[in-house]
Order: sequence, then C-alpha cells, then structure tokens
Amino acid sequence: MCVGYSLGMMTVEYALAQILHTCNMFLPKGMSPKDLSMEEVSGPSLTRSEALRLRVTPRLPASVYIKAGIKNVA
Ligand code: HEM
Repeated sequence: MCVGYSLGMMTVEYALAQILHTCNMFLPKGMSPKDLSMEEVSGPSLTRSEALRLRVTPRLPASVYIKAGIKNVA
C-alpha cells in the first residue's frame, strides 16, 4: 500500500489542471488525433512510446503569466 498516494494524486491533478487552464494545445499542422500513437512503455513509470508533440499557446491574458513570473509569453 502506498502511503503517499493521496499526495501524489493531488500533485499530479494540480499540475495537469494548471496546464489545461493556462494553455491551448494543438496538434502539429496536418496531424489528426487518429495519427497519434497511444503505445505505452512500462518501466519505473508508465510513459508514451512516442513523445507527444503539441503546439502550445497562452489561453489567458498576458497579465496572468507576467504576475506568475513567466516571461516571453507570445
Ligand atoms: C501518484 C503518485 C504515486 C504513485 C502512483 C505511487 C505508487 C506506489 C506504489 C505502486 C507503491 C507500492 C505499493 C505496494 O507494494 O503495495 C507505493 C509505495 C509507497 N509509496 Fe507511493 N506512489 C505515489 C506517490 C507517493 C508519494 C508522494 C509518497 C511520499 C510522499 C509515496 C510514498 C510511498 C511509500 C513510503 C511506499 C511504501 C509503503 C510501504 O510499503 O510501507 N508515494 N507507491
């Protein structure tokens, strides 16, 4: 049994929520969702066999990123 499971899940969900809240994500031009390989490789953790390549753009007003200390937001 994992004693840190709740902390681990909370941390993962928090990070994921922040990414989804602050970023728009698009597949590269000419690529559709069905072109994505969903193969996994198991090891110490479960990872994708092919890196997920996405185009990421800001989703919120620039002032939000500046306040968070993030520079160079296009
Ligand atoms: C989502 C994140 C996490 C996953 C998926 C995970 C997964 C696991 C798994 C599969 C085990 C083995 C359970 C077993 O053999 O019955 C384990 C054990 C353990 N985990 Fe985690 N863990 C996570 C986060 C954490 C965190 C954040 C901590 C500490 C802060 C932690 C501390 C431990 C400890 C100390 C054990 C050994 C417990 C024992 O056998 O007495 N884990 N974890």
